[in-house]
Amino acid sequence: KTIPATLIPGDGIGPEIMDAVTEILDAVGAPFAWDKQLAGMAAVDATGNPLPPQTIDSIRRTGLALKSPLTTPVGGGFKSINVTLRQEFGLYANLRPTRTFVPGARFDKIDLVLVRENLEGYYAAMESYIPVGDDPHGIATGAGYNSRAECNRIVRFAFEYAVKHGRKKVTLVHKANILKLLTGLFLEEGRKVAKEYEGRVECNERIVDACAMQLVIDPWQYDVIVTTNLFGDILSDLTAGLVGGLGMAPGANIGEKAAVFEAVHGSAPDIAGKDLANPLALLLAANMMLEHIGRADLSTRIESGIRAVITKPELLTRDLGGKSGTREFTAALKQHLV
Ligand code: NAI
Ligand code: MG
Repeated sequence: KTIPATLIPGDGIGPEIMDAVTEILDAVGAPFAWDKQLAGMAAVDATGNPLPPQTIDSIRRTGLALKSPLTTPVGGGFKSINVTLRQEFGLYANLRPTRTFVPGARFDKIDLVLVRENLEGYYAAMESYIPVGDDPHGIATGAGYNSRAECNRIVRFAFEYAVKHGRKKVTLVHKANILKLLTGLFLEEGRKVAKEYEGRVECNERIVDACAMQLVIDPWQYDVIVTTNLFGDILSDLTAGLVGGLGMAPGANIGEKAAVFEAVHGSAPDIAGKDLANPLALLLAANMMLEHIGRADLSTRIESGIRAVITKPELLTRDLGGKSGTREFTAALKQHLV
């Protein structure tokens, strides 16, 4: 039985890493029936629109997408495609797991998950500037909002994730000492939800700045972190940095009717078309997608292959200190699948 899914090859290194990933998915017999669609600069070139209606229709039909990075067109007044997708499909949860794959790294044995609220907070972009020429007294302002319902939903998502994945602890990360209402509401709802899971999942709280420091000093104390939009954006780049950076960081944008899986990194125009890109972040995103459709058996096989090939540093791509190109690495990984 096949499962229809939208595939967006994207821009820059996108098509190269997508080819690598579909090759590995095919090798383990992943059941996706791909509906290939355009977005980003590839779509601008073909249709003049960075997010054509056919692409949106496809995701509406499949409820499932694997997306390569998109180059955000500079100028022309395009709104970020990623933000548009999140809003269009109500992709309220941004899930970013961080795990050590390269053994003996500076931060060994990391295994934590960050859940970021994806629709509200300071990303509402309610900004203004009161311009009086280049008046040195000019003022820029920005506002954000969090809704009680959304705070409740995102914390619940984190606890449900913990229960399903056998995780022990959820940390509510906030700044309620200063942003007493904006993030105080998140903390208030978080505590309510935590009570419902008492005895099953432990809950604690951290102020975001202290959390940033502790993530560097002692990341192992964390299991699942849940936080509001901007804090999650910043902390998830920090956690990616703990395990070797962007080449290894997958992410999922999850809503009630659709889920979009992607690498955290961008289209890397500096190495595009040169067979240098590391496909692992997108492959790990594809693994999350397999788990999402209940095929953890396949993601486990791929993960074992990754863990096996990673013990041979020379086979890795250059960003991980190896010598292989994208294709050579993909072929090597394929040989390590069992
Ligand atoms: P980037 O993530 O594309 O690149 C940053 C650095 O990391 C570059 O040196 C690049 O070569 C390297 N890198 C990234 N992914 C790699 C991989 N898989 N293997 C090996 N090296 C890799 O960030 P940058 O340069 O700021 O953005 C480039 C474009 O990507 C921009 O147009 C930006 O808007 C877009 N972008 C798109 C995202 C998305 O679609 N989700 C996310 C972030 C940026
Ligand atoms: Mg970010």
